[in-house]
Amino acid sequence: MTRLMIVAASVREGRIGLPIAQWVLREAEADGRFEIDFADLKEIALPLMDEPNHPRLRQYTRDHTKAWSARVDAAEAFVFVQPEYNYSYAPSLKNALDYLHQEWRRKPVGTVSYGGISGGTRGVTALRPVEQALGLVPTSANVELAWAAQQIDDEGVFQPRESNERMLHTQFDELIALSAALSPLR
Ligand SMILES: Cc1cc2nc3c(=O)[nH]c(=O)nc-3n(C[C@H](O)[C@H](O)[C@H](O)COP(=O)(O)O)c2cc1C
Repeated sequence: MTRLMIVAASVREGRIGLPIAQWVLREAEADGRFEIDFADLKEIALPLMDEPNHPRLRQYTRDHTKAWSARVDAAEAFVFVQPEYNYSYAPSLKNALDYLHQEWRRKPVGTVSYGGISGGTRGVTALRPVEQALGLVPTSANVELAWAAQQIDDEGVFQPRESNERMLHTQFDELIALSAALSPLR
C-alpha cells in the first residue's frame, strides 16, 4: 500500500474544492492500493507561517507545525486538489508547503487543478518552482478541470467526466511507480 495524502487546498467559504477532493478520495479508496490521509487545509487551519526557524532545521516550536509535520512525514505521495487564483496558486497551499521542508522531499505529487477556461493550469505551473525547492517530484499525468463548477450537481457532488477518471487513474499509477522509485533516495 502507498500512503497517499490528498490535500484539499481551498479554504474559501463555498469552495468547490471540497467536493472535487472528495471525488479524488472516493476514487483512491476504490482503487485499493492506497492508505489515505485526507488533509483539508480549511479544517487544519494553519496560521500564516509563524515558526522562528527555517523548516529545513526541523526545530518546530508550535503544536500545529508538529502535527502537520507528522502527517506529511508519514505520506509517500500527494495529490494536490488546487484552484487557480489570479493566474496562480492558492495562498493556503503555499503556506502549508512553506511550513515544512524535508517532509516533502523526494516524494511525488500529482495535481487535480480547476478554475475557469485554463483548468487551473496556470496555478499548477506557478507552483512548480516551489515544489522544486522542496524536492517534490511532479507527475506528468494531471487532471485539469475547466469550468469545474459546472460539474458540481445540485447535491454538491462532483460529477466526473470519463476523461477525468481516466486521467486520475493514470496519475495514481504514476504516483505509485514514482513513490517506489524515489523511496531509496529518501
Ligand atoms: C480570488 C480569486 C481569484 C480567481 N482567479 C482565477 C483565475 O485566475 N483563473 C481562473 O480560472 N479562475 C479564477 N478564479 C475563479 C475560481 O477558479 C473559482 O472561484 C473556483 O471556484 C475557486 O475554487 P474554490 O471554490 O475551491 O476556492 C478566482 C477566484 C477567486 C476567489
